[in-house]
Amino acid sequence: MTSATSDSSSTARAQIGVTGLAVMGSNIARNLARHGHTVALHNRSIAKTDALIAEHGDEGDFVRTETVEEFVAALQKPRRVLIMVKAGEATDAVIEELAGAMETGDIIIDGGNALYTDTIRREAALRERGLHFVGAGISGGEEGALNGPSIMPGGPKESYEALGPLLESIAAQVDGVPCCTHIGPDGSGHFVKMVHNGIEYADMQLIGEAYNLFRDALGYDADRIADVFTEWNSGELESYLVEITAEVLQQKDAKTGKPLVDVIVDAAEQKGTGRWTVKSALDLGVPVTGIAEAVFARALSGSRDQRKAAQGLASGALGAKPTDAEQFTEDIRQALYASKIVAYAQGFDQIRAGSDEYGWDLTPGDMATIWRGGCIIRARFLNRIKEAYDTNPALTSLIVEPYFREAIENAIDSWRRVVVTATQLGIPVPAFASSLSYYDGLRAERLPAALTQGQRDFFGAHTYERIDADGKFHTLWSGDHSEVSA
Ligand code: 6PG
Repeated sequence: MTSATSDSSSTARAQIGVTGLAVMGSNIARNLARHGHTVALHNRSIAKTDALIAEHGDEGDFVRTETVEEFVAALQKPRRVLIMVKAGEATDAVIEELAGAMETGDIIIDGGNALYTDTIRREAALRERGLHFVGAGISGGEEGALNGPSIMPGGPKESYEALGPLLESIAAQVDGVPCCTHIGPDGSGHFVKMVHNGIEYADMQLIGEAYNLFRDALGYDADRIADVFTEWNSGELESYLVEITAEVLQQKDAKTGKPLVDVIVDAAEQKGTGRWTVKSALDLGVPVTGIAEAVFARALSGSRDQRKAAQGLASGALGAKPTDAEQFTEDIRQALYASKIVAYAQGFDQIRAGSDEYGWDLTPGDMATIWRGGCIIRARFLNRIKEAYDTNPALTSLIVEPYFREAIENAIDSWRRVVVTATQLGIPVPAFASSLSYYDGLRAERLPAALTQGQRDFFGAHTYERIDADGKFHTLWSGDHSEVSA
């Protein structure tokens, strides 16, 4: 079936080009070819292009090109080029080279994990030059790229007409619906992918805390914990991350025979998308506490010198370990589910705030739809989130929607027991605890923020509002303590 050729310049026959043929790029190119699209290939070093064609050339129709000019010339108009290179300066360099060789109406798609503000900048610059720039978040890792990722393309709506069917054909499908849709203008696709990754961080941290409780509060070994996660994966917690957690826990180290997880250094790394999510949330004023705790937990785990110095610090008097393992297991499951709902609720809040800030007019229900398959945070309960937004597109918060409200009400006693027990045992549960505090904070009738306002007015005359009158007020703290209208 392959007709890979280096003599492509005279025939513009490829429907799409992929440049940057590391694993993600190669797999997306193969996925496109497997779906019947002719794919022009380009890479800085031709060796990668040749390796792909040698190993997988029979999977579809590839066009081998060496130079950027040859690559661009191999494409049907409007030309569609997917860039799969490292986010940052490498992306700018490739865009510049391509833009020089492309024509009005052509489309450049950045499929990397770019910072959405870079995508806003790039889209504006290319629009000036008559080109379409699409920032497409792609989730699902290497396996997803090959067999069906979740794709979050943002950019000019008109470019989606030429691009959408192609992307939708290679995306994961759930109930016949592709996990790909036009997200919104300019940087919105990469923004949404960033929040996806933030939720991924929170979900992973929550699963980690559950694992830690089984190990340190119940004394379970990795195999036993794997069994619990396997069982959970057949219920409402069913998700890709729970599924792979069981697999990771079952893995044995070839060298020592121990569970692999017991020989891996407990310092979590990060490439940056979680941190970006929190920075953006701070700017937008959205309390994504679960995501923030997850990012900080990774930072704490990596603070090796401080952790070493803190070894042996007093724990204080510790409480008793749970005696009813079955009940505590159910408590952890409920705490995980409730905290997970909070993490997704916060992520969706951030999407709404980003949409308002940048005027993107995003439809949150779309994210729930396209995250149901292909991506790292795919989970059974995304169907519920989709239903919630279908019923009420202007939902104030997921946690007040009847299904999730009831789920949390069912979980609340367990959730509190888990946080209390962990605290009494000296086991850190930053994401469980902060999610619970967030929930308690939101549902509180009265918060201590009134006192904060009083303090701010005292030292800075920052004024406050009253519960019983309109307007702003100030107390003459250094005078006679009377109140004046501000
Ligand atoms: C995905 C993943 C992917 C990548 C993360 C890893 O959606 O396919 O999120 O984008 O694996 O960026 O991020 P960290 O290295 O920061 O954990």
